[in-house]
Amino acid sequence: MEKTLAIFNVLCVSLICLSLYVAPADAYGRKQLRFNANGRFKILQVSDMHYGNGKETKCSNVPPEEFPYCSDLNTTSFIQRTIASEKPDLIVFSGDNVNGLCETNDAAKTMKMAFAPAIEAKIPWVAILGNHDQESDMTRETLMKYIVKMPYTLSQVNPGVFPIDGFGNYNLRVEGPFGSPLFFKSLLNLYMVDGGDYVKLDGFIYKYDWVKTSQLNWYEDASKWLELEYKSWPFPQNSTAPGLVYDHIPVPEFKQFNDSKVMTGVRHEDTCSPPVNSGLFTKLVERGEVKGVFSGHDHVNDFCGTLDGISLCYAGGAGYHGYGRTGWERRVRVVEAHLEKTKNGRWGAVDKILTWKRLDDKNHSLIDTQLLWSKNMTLEANYTFRCNFIKQH
Ligand SMILES: *[C@@H]1O[C@H](CO)[C@@H](O)[C@H](O)[C@H]1NC(C)=O
Ligand SMILES: *[C@@H]1O[C@H](CO)[C@@H](O)[C@H](O)[C@H]1NC(C)=O
Ligand SMILES: *[C@@H]1O[C@H](CO)[C@@H](O)[C@H](O)[C@H]1NC(C)=O
Ligand SMILES: *[C@@H]1O[C@H](CO)[C@@H](O)[C@H](O)[C@H]1NC(C)=O
Ligand SMILES: *[C@@H]1O[C@H](CO)[C@@H](O)[C@H](O)[C@H]1NC(C)=O
Ligand SMILES: *[C@@H]1O[C@H](CO)[C@@H](O)[C@H](O)[C@H]1NC(C)=O
Repeated sequence: MEKTLAIFNVLCVSLICLSLYVAPADAYGRKQLRFNANGRFKILQVSDMHYGNGKETKCSNVPPEEFPYCSDLNTTSFIQRTIASEKPDLIVFSGDNVNGLCETNDAAKTMKMAFAPAIEAKIPWVAILGNHDQESDMTRETLMKYIVKMPYTLSQVNPGVFPIDGFGNYNLRVEGPFGSPLFFKSLLNLYMVDGGDYVKLDGFIYKYDWVKTSQLNWYEDASKWLELEYKSWPFPQNSTAPGLVYDHIPVPEFKQFNDSKVMTGVRHEDTCSPPVNSGLFTKLVERGEVKGVFSGHDHVNDFCGTLDGISLCYAGGAGYHGYGRTGWERRVRVVEAHLEKTKNGRWGAVDKILTWKRLDDKNHSLIDTQLLWSKNMTLEANYTFRCNFIKQH
């Protein structure tokens, strides 16, 4: 074992040199995401900040007595407070980061203010776009090209050389802890998806856009490569690593949940998804790798519900300028993945994934902790097909 590890270490060092040499992404001094020494990795999802001009921009749906003292700065202090208590390893700003709506005429300035808490805390962060981000002085392409140059971000405009729809479709690898044999394998795969903004159907009516076939194909390819690598030498794994998707506009499958008995969290408004179902959820079910899809867009829904083995979760709105619900606190979602200990006491694959929410109330309440997925849920079950198992139709 020791000898294998020695060879392995030499190999790893050469692989790191090789990857530094070939990976231009490191030009900005970017850090590889990695599980920590306690075998954990925590993601903070901040959705729908709807940031405007800072202290001049007023809040929506706060109690009347709070209104004179409430601005975008409350959104900033909520994120700072959450970073201090949760100490996340990655922050995902999941769209409608900039309010747009012709209120802001300097998106770059707005983004500097909006993403500042992550940058000041020197925490790796990424952003995807919502449907409002491009409504001031930058297009979706310009926004993403600007974001990828900001400090501490791991955002990307788009993968590879083949053109695909949207701006801000990319995957992130979360590798094993330092000192672990799995330290250059991706044990958790994150997929950021650009769900677009609006689409014009029937002449004039604008509806919410959908994830396009080119993006589904990109996801499928990326996911298959990651699976191949996970199952290959060295330290080949038998299962697939779990994946998580972040996409601003919820897929239509979110609509199915409206029964508190099968959801954790609440629905206070309809799901505003695209008019057609372009098959993202179906593709994820087919691949069987992704365990959670995390969206925003509908600020006053914050539930998770599970459908066909995948949890569909809302973050709830974090921003004070965007609409909310008076008396229902602004909130963010946290996801934490834990590794298992192998027989020889080293860190192995992901064992379970938990999620909870943090509210911007006096107590900074942590609510709705739930097990999103655990490895034992997907262990090979010994099913025997019986002829009368499925009722005849
Ligand atoms: C916004 O921040 C101000 C200043 O810290 C505070 O007094 C006020 O209560 C906050 N408003 C809300 C709605 O949290
Ligand atoms: C994969 O399965 C093989 C055969 O059952 C076993 O020998 C090996 O230890 C397993 N590997 C891992 C990483 O679980
Ligand atoms: C959810 O159910 C409640 C009560 O049954 C109903 O009033 C509400 O309209 C439903 N919402 C959606 C989005 O279906
Ligand atoms: C805040 O915490 C205190 C002490 O634990 C508790 O009594 C109070 O009900 C909590 N308030 C809210 C709004 O959760
Ligand atoms: C699966 O694992 C989770 C968390 O590790 C545990 O709470 C649950 O009881 C386990 N379920 C079974 C069926 O072993
Ligand atoms: C599956 O179930 C059958 C029937 O109960 C049993 O004979 C067989 O040993 C089981 N296989 C495994 C791998 O557990």
